[in-house]
Amino acid sequence: MFEWKEEYTTGMKEIDEQHKILFKCFNELEAVVVAGQRNDEKVIAIMEFLDSFCHFHFGFEEICMAERKCSSESENKGAHEAFLKLIDTYKEKIKKEGATEDIVEDIYISMLTWLRNHIIKIDQRFLECPNPPVVPDVLKD
Ligand SMILES: [Fe+2]
Repeated sequence: MFEWKEEYTTGMKEIDEQHKILFKCFNELEAVVVAGQRNDEKVIAIMEFLDSFCHFHFGFEEICMAERKCSSESENKGAHEAFLKLIDTYKEKIKKEGATEDIVEDIYISMLTWLRNHIIKIDQRFLECPNPPVVPDVLKD
């Protein structure tokens, strides 16, 4: 089971919380792999959630990066697009072949690896952004 640690922080609370939700998804996939029994319904539900949540999360993150003039803004966008395509590819594969153990294990390993690398290499550049986090009006004096 993958545990989120402080070393994965982006310094942006909402984004860290969203990353935790993504890791939770992968832990759910891992549970299917560990159980060693096909569970198409559960895997399809996880992939549907992952698809819609990633659209939301990536969009949110891209806006934050643009606002803070983060150096990895365009690199981040490109990586997100590639990941969304990967989700589509796996969804198609499941539609054709079913959620076989091999496919689910492949999804689990490749996507979890992608997410960890992505956070460390790209999302954590939030920590070096020149602009301070945007403070909502309600929190201003
Ligand atoms: Fe990102």
